[in-house]
Amino acid sequence: MAQKLSKKVQNIIARDKKVFLTTTREPFPFVPHRGEGDFAYDIDDRKFIDFTSFISVYNLGVNSNSSVRNAIKKQIDLLMHSAFTDFYGEMPVKFGEELLKLMPRGFGKLFLSNSGTEANEAAIKFAKIYSNRGYILGFYNAFHGRTGGSLGVTASKSIQREHFGPFPNDIHAPFPYCYRCPFNETYPGCGFACIDYIKKYPLSKEVGPKEVSAIMFEPIQGEGGYIVPPKDYFKELKKLADENGILMIADEVQSGYMRTGKFLALENFGVTADIYTMAKSVGAGLPIGVTAVSSALGDIPYGKHANTFGGNFAVTAGGYEALKQINSKKAKLSEEIVQKGRYIMKRLERMKEDYEIIGDVRGIGLMIGVEFVKDKKGKEPNPEVRDKVQLKCFDRGLLLLPSGESTIRIIPPLTVRKSTIDSGMDIFEDAVREVSRQNA
Ligand SMILES: Cc1ncc(COP(=O)(O)O)c(C=O)c1O
Repeated sequence: MAQKLSKKVQNIIARDKKVFLTTTREPFPFVPHRGEGDFAYDIDDRKFIDFTSFISVYNLGVNSNSSVRNAIKKQIDLLMHSAFTDFYGEMPVKFGEELLKLMPRGFGKLFLSNSGTEANEAAIKFAKIYSNRGYILGFYNAFHGRTGGSLGVTASKSIQREHFGPFPNDIHAPFPYCYRCPFNETYPGCGFACIDYIKKYPLSKEVGPKEVSAIMFEPIQGEGGYIVPPKDYFKELKKLADENGILMIADEVQSGYMRTGKFLALENFGVTADIYTMAKSVGAGLPIGVTAVSSALGDIPYGKHANTFGGNFAVTAGGYEALKQINSKKAKLSEEIVQKGRYIMKRLERMKEDYEIIGDVRGIGLMIGVEFVKDKKGKEPNPEVRDKVQLKCFDRGLLLLPSGESTIRIIPPLTVRKSTIDSGMDIFEDAVREVSRQNA
């Protein structure tokens, strides 16, 4: 760490370590204090460009915007918690109606919870109820959360599952990670060898396809490395699911909510799932989980699922205000996200030519990953270089988050200004150049 830590930062970190168990913090000492628009400020009021949206949460700007905050404040003065699975309430209903306007036609009904993993737990339970089957097929590099059901389908890093198994209801298959195709094939010549594999192995050697309740997937894998499947992949996957009466659960916790320019990332692939899950940005900064079920599946029986805080009035008040803003300017917002994404990708494509340590750049809209390697030919992942770039950027006032083995994600708030993109990308390129020189 090049930068000397201030007394305040050192003090908070020391106290934190005494009070809290270890989680997953990366070793850079960011202590946020306030935020507005494209920027976050730390406890010493040092300004940072935010290319993380605080893990894909602040899609409408850091700390959302004043209308969202005012809606939350107004609701807090009336009633915060409402025991929404025991009593009724207007605010969650308004929120749900507004959200369904953005979902594919035919959706449906919602269940509200407090996080991504809870949204996925609900989806898994509902799929089992609808299908009366027990197994879920997930993918390598997938991340769906850290509670039992979601963790079973997760297969991103073994440390996340170690100690907590066995997970007897979950089977896995390779995801179409074309940059590192596990079958050493190249798209489109591969003829989707990864789909053939699912038929020949997990759905033939492990369980019969009629035992599988759902295929659960991220349209773009997030935590696993920002992995974007080829355009037609999900059409092929859906064919396989339909042939066997298997439901499709799309985990849009990270990829949804306009991040790719569409409300749901799966829309980019011309396919509709049976169940969608969302969280992160849907609460515009407050905790929420949403499980959305196609009308064709119908309701679930009384007493099968509920919770205490789902549908919280303060959370849904902020979420409702944010959804109204998106609904009122969706076409313009969508166009801007696509344009900004292309602008960043163009610069990254040029950087990929110039720097041997950048192996791949990929993404849709403002969900972009940069994968670092030892050299282009060998493609060996280079987490050391990735971490150095991330730290140098932090020292110079740019927040970035890692993903997968050696990828950095570029996920600014969707409202990021072009001038901020330029400043952030200048810092990023300077860091890559310096690390690249040291690495040569
Ligand atoms: C795709 C995906 N699903 C589920 C989760 C879990 O969400 P939460 O941390 O809110 O439980 C995450 C979190 O990063 C995620 O990226």
